[in-house]
Amino acid sequence: MSNRLPVDHVVNSDGSSGWKSSPGGLVTALEPVMRAAEGAWIGWAGVADTEFAPFENDGIEIIPVPLSESEIEQYYEGFSNDTLWPLYHDVIAPPQYHREWWEAYVQVNRRFAEAAARYAATEAVVWVQDYQLQLVPEMLRELRPDLVIGFFDHIPFPPYGIFSQLPWRKQILKGLLGADVIGFQRVADAGNFTRAVRRLFGFTTRGNVVEVIGDDGDVRHVVARTFPISIDVAGYEEIAARPEVQERARQIRHDLGDPKVVMLGVDRLDYTKGIGHRLKAFGELLAENRLQVEDVTLVQVASPSRERVATYMALRDEIELQVGRLNGEFSTISHSAIAYLHHGYPREEMVALYLAADVMLVTALRDGMNLVAKEYVACRADNTGVMVLSEFAGASDELRQAIIVNPHDIAGLKDAIVAAVEMPKREQARRMRALRKTVNGNTVNDWSKSFLDTLTGRAAVPR
Ligand code: G6P
Repeated sequence: MSNRLPVDHVVNSDGSSGWKSSPGGLVTALEPVMRAAEGAWIGWAGVADTEFAPFENDGIEIIPVPLSESEIEQYYEGFSNDTLWPLYHDVIAPPQYHREWWEAYVQVNRRFAEAAARYAATEAVVWVQDYQLQLVPEMLRELRPDLVIGFFDHIPFPPYGIFSQLPWRKQILKGLLGADVIGFQRVADAGNFTRAVRRLFGFTTRGNVVEVIGDDGDVRHVVARTFPISIDVAGYEEIAARPEVQERARQIRHDLGDPKVVMLGVDRLDYTKGIGHRLKAFGELLAENRLQVEDVTLVQVASPSRERVATYMALRDEIELQVGRLNGEFSTISHSAIAYLHHGYPREEMVALYLAADVMLVTALRDGMNLVAKEYVACRADNTGVMVLSEFAGASDELRQAIIVNPHDIAGLKDAIVAAVEMPKREQARRMRALRKTVNGNTVNDWSKSFLDTLTGRAAVPR
């Protein structure tokens, strides 16, 4: 179960309609798992005020949950993406607290729980995904005590000093504690969660296990631990090996004017991604002549996201002003400083971009994992390429051989970019080999298997 289904309902210009695979890390990660498990996926179809009957898509049973226009505004754009999202990402943007948004969040979480209660077989395993649905585990447990319930938090879980701002902090924790296993991206996230549970409820935690004491005095044991998510590594490798994708990568470099170095950023246009910090560092390097526009081009894919939320609208203006200024100042007729693309692209085109890029810039100010970092590594079968990776992205816990940066430290970020541009092939290969080994050692199948094995009791619970 996730807020978004793996398919979006689309209406074409000729009035016909259909379903198309929706983008996003979550979908990329879970699709192969669901197909293999013959599961049903419960989620929202991405459009307002429309009810759809369950149907099968690509071997997955799809169960759409309807949302009204006002629920999209209050539950999705409001509480999920203008309250929880900024709160859970270090309050980079100020979270908005509105009681009506909270009411809508409760109401929609209940609808999701009721859908699962209706469709799940006896003693079925239900895996709830992400921050939009944190109340579902408890609601579902009340409706269906026979079910095995897991929850995975794809985004960071904030330190108590930040989490405690939330007027509904106790309800959120109680909602999550309805699960048997709660998964997090980083050790630090799981620690933040168990600390909040101790502070607000006084429950005892032993290692990864929380002793939840119910109203009736009964004790339940809930596992809260890290399961770092990954990608479909073989899928990316296969696309990267296709001759036509490699040809497309050459074409991209050619179209950019065959610069010596192509740098790449790939992000949803989100204030958590540190796009502005990256642009500032790049602009200063050009201004100081430490990089030359004839030699280095930055390709920045900023895919449209949450476009009706005010903070995202303001961010778009800010980033596009910055891009326009830098290009105006540094581009020449034949060489652009920044190729800025406000689009989403199919996976093949993304892989071609990863293949075309000598340097990958992942400078998030806070990020649960950042799957782009793993995708880049998976595509670099020839062991070339350098990644500059923020310590504030979950991926930095695993991808230690990247050049790890604090993106707030612009001087340090500039030095890291220069070091990446100048890194000898030998050292690139040494680092990339190690990175590829790490990414291969924890694929999305490993991730889901270890979560589901823990949930169904087949894996010992490390303490
Ligand atoms: C992040 C979240 C996902 C979300 C995705 C796209 O990866 O963890 O839950 O689906 O962003 O955002 P959107 O609001 O378009 O679903």
